[in-house]
Amino acid sequence: MARPYWFPETSVQKLPEPLNLKGDKIIVADAHAPTYSALWANRMLAVARNHKIKECVCIGDMLTVKWANHWDSEADKGKWSEEAQLMGAFWWTLIHSFEELTLLFSNHCRRVNRATNGRVDADTLINDIIMRFALENNYAIPPLRDRLTTSQFSYSYLDDDWLLCHPVQSSVNKLKVANDLSQRWRRNVIAAHSHAATLGYSRCGEFQIIDCGGLYDEDRMMWRQIDRTTAPAWKNGFVVYKNGFMTLCHPSMEWTPIDKMFEEEV
Ligand SMILES: [Fe+2]
Ligand SMILES: [Fe+2]
Repeated sequence: MARPYWFPETSVQKLPEPLNLKGDKIIVADAHAPTYSALWANRMLAVARNHKIKECVCIGDMLTVKWANHWDSEADKGKWSEEAQLMGAFWWTLIHSFEELTLLFSNHCRRVNRATNGRVDADTLINDIIMRFALENNYAIPPLRDRLTTSQFSYSYLDDDWLLCHPVQSSVNKLKVANDLSQRWRRNVIAAHSHAATLGYSRCGEFQIIDCGGLYDEDRMMWRQIDRTTAPAWKNGFVVYKNGFMTLCHPSMEWTPIDKMFEEEV
């Protein structure tokens, strides 16, 4: 009888595990720099400082990467050097405002990989932006490797119970994607990408679900302005995670005292 054969283990490496973050955080997404909202970015910083939160996790789309846009509606995609210049101060402020900054990748980050056939990724571009800004202003380059962590994954966990995610899906129904994620992955969920600030509970009632809004400036986003569509309205926002509690910060809150804080300092 012929010798029996068995399949050998493949030599292809397994993927690394996604990040499992711990402890108090400011959770932001969708700044779409350079079309970020200084108002919302400063509100986020003011709240972080008030709560003495030293770590920030960004759930994707923190930069737009317009030069690698593959949609046809914007004929003028501009140059990377111009786009980098426009967001130098944004990334400089972000990297100097937290002891730890974690960036999860998303659809806009992955434009870079697609446009360069995988030769460059968003991690390289963000480092490039910060170093350019330092050189142009004669500033010392910050310790990026100690302070900045990027993940190719579009999700991470937080204190095991939370899934932070920049999903590829979207829906016109608020919280639908966050709800579906919570049912599939059996966790509380913070979902980015929908640009809506909304919170609630999953259909089964077991999980908290949050759409975290974003730090974008809708008025400066050409694709959002040049057409009138049936897409739902957006709402800026971000999330504070402190002592195990999640708080969604959104436009309907009383912002006057917070806004005064950074207006007086400018
Ligand atoms: Fe986005
Ligand atoms: Fe997105």
